[in-house]
Formats: sequence, C-alpha cells, structure tokens
Amino acid sequence: MKTIVTTSPEIAAEFIRSGELAAFPTETVYGLGAHALIGNAVQNIFDAKGRPADNPLIVHIFEIDQLDDVVADVPTYARLLMERFFPGPLTLVLRKHPLIPSIVTAGLDSVGVRMPDHALASTFLKACGAPVAAPSANRSGRPSPTTWQDVLEDLDGRIPCILKGERALLGLESTVVDCVGAEPVVLRAGAVSLQDLRSVADSIRIAAASNDSGARSPGLRHRHYAPRAYVQLVDAPPANPKNFSAYIGIAAPPRPDRFERSLVCRDVREYAFELFGFFRICDRANIKTIYCELPTPDGIGAALADRLRRASEASS
Ligand code: TXA
Ligand code: MG
Repeated sequence: MKTIVTTSPEIAAEFIRSGELAAFPTETVYGLGAHALIGNAVQNIFDAKGRPADNPLIVHIFEIDQLDDVVADVPTYARLLMERFFPGPLTLVLRKHPLIPSIVTAGLDSVGVRMPDHALASTFLKACGAPVAAPSANRSGRPSPTTWQDVLEDLDGRIPCILKGERALLGLESTVVDCVGAEPVVLRAGAVSLQDLRSVADSIRIAAASNDSGARSPGLRHRHYAPRAYVQLVDAPPANPKNFSAYIGIAAPPRPDRFERSLVCRDVREYAFELFGFFRICDRANIKTIYCELPTPDGIGAALADRLRRASEASS
C-alpha cells in the first residue's frame, strides 16, 4: 500500500468517508482515524497498528451535537466537565450509543469521546461527516507519535493517508475519565491535571492501579510508550552513566559529554512535549540506556511520571 502525505483535510477526510484510514494531528499526539460507524473500517486500525482487540478506541468529534450519535446518556458532572474542558485533551468514557459498533469499544458498553482543541483536526473531523474512532497513530507498543514523520516511521505502507500538520503541542495523550458511575474516576493521567478536574468535579478520584483501572481501561494493561532502549528512572542525572546512554530531564547533567545524547528541558511542560520524540531519536541512534529524571507529580508532571513509569516497566 502506498502512503500519501497531504496537507489537505478534505483529501484526508475522503479516505475516512470511503471506509479507509487516515492519520491526523491533534494537540496531544497524532491519531489514526477510521469512520466510527463502519465496523470494517475500524478493524483496519487494529490491523495497521497490530493493536490487541481488547483495547477500546476513543471516538473523536468536532462539535457537541455529534455526541447524540456516540453516547446514550451523559451524567450532569460529565456535562460540567465538557463545558469546562471540551475542546481539549480530555476523554470522557460514557455509556455507548447502540449505533457504535462493538469493535470500537472492544465489546464494552461504554465509549471514550474526545473533542480535540486543534484547528486542522476540527476541519478534518467536520469534513469526515461522522465521528472518527482513533487511537494514537503508532505501531502498538511504541511511543505515541508527536510528528507526522513519527507516524510515517511506524506506519508507512500500512495506511493510505497521513494528514500532515505541525508537531503536537502537548506531546502526551489525553486524560481519560470514566463517567459511567455515580462519580468520575481518572483512568489515565494526561494534560488535564487532577487539580484542573477537581475544580469542576471535587469528588473525582484516581482509579487504583492494579484492580479497577485494569478492568475499566483495558488499554492500561498493555505494553505502552516504550522505546527499544532500557529506560532507567533517576532522581538526578548520573555522573557515571553506562556506555551508549542518553539523558532527558530538567536538571542538567554534571558531565553531559558522558552521554551520547542529552536533552535538558526548561520545565515539566517542555519535558512532556519532548519525551516521546526523544525516545524515538534514541532508538534511531541505537542508544542502550535512557536515563529519565522523574518529575514531581503535579500538573502535567503526574501524566509525565505515569508515562515514564510505564516505559521503564516495559523495559524491565
Ligand atoms: O490524546 C489521545 O487520547 C490520543 C489522541 C489521538 O486523541 N488518543 C489515544 O488513544 O491516546 P489510545 O487508543 O492510544 O488510548 C486510549 C485509551 C486507552 O488506554 C483505552 O483503554 C482507553 O483510552 N479507553 C478507550 N475507550 C475506553 C472505554 N470505553 N473504557 C475504558 N477505557 C477506554
Ligand atoms: Mg496509544
């Protein structure tokens, strides 16, 4: 299959309307989209990514009116979250509409919905004329793509179209909040922080790592966000790193010359923006060990710490 790269949201949307795949930019990471109401189209996502069939997809919309075709029922607290954070890097898990094929939700009776805060994504989603199911546009298990070149690196020849936009502004995936129960539960940390969410829903809590998060958000069980290199979390940059190693963090290493690559970030936001791209750079350079400074877990630091932990667990 030949992969075309286009800057035209209309051309990319034409693929979606005809039941084929198109990758597209968002403010978090690039997504791999399919028409959410066509089961066969959605199946292509799982094939192209090598994604386990038990991992549900997020359905993307560009306006609130589309919700009527996607979800069956929206609790009041979820309405409030939408009013405050849509469009934005927040995914709400709600009871699914019967029209959404079960392949989208991996057989669950709930569906994740998100409205990206991204002009090109909105134009594209509007032109698709239907809600668009999309996971991150990486091969399963690899770091999420933050540029169209990352998408091409993973999926060239496996998907027909990439809508080319800028590098993703946030660099980490959306916050996922389960809104099916009486009170909201955070299933995945993301750019919308717990503090932000609390300002609207003070009863919100974080899913316990081992039990309900595993059960409610099947995706969190799978290997994720991992470079090929071994990821070692550190409180401070090491003075005597192993051979062929790299470092990313906010603190500057005392001996940067001892690393093949190092990236010192201004703050936690820039660290989040850079992380997945840095993982890919290290893989291309055959780095063996990536030392990553563990950030303090407030604001987007919680999401960053979560991704770093997953990457390091996947390497051990
Ligand atoms: O920022 C993002 O969320 C990006 C962009 C493209 O929107 N998408 C993304 O999708 O990261 P993905 O498939 O890589 O991650 C979706 C996460 C998974 O952990 C999945 O298990 C969870 O959301 N999820 C989706 N639907 C769910 C549902 N019905 N119940 C529980 N968890 C769900
Ligand atoms: Mg993903």
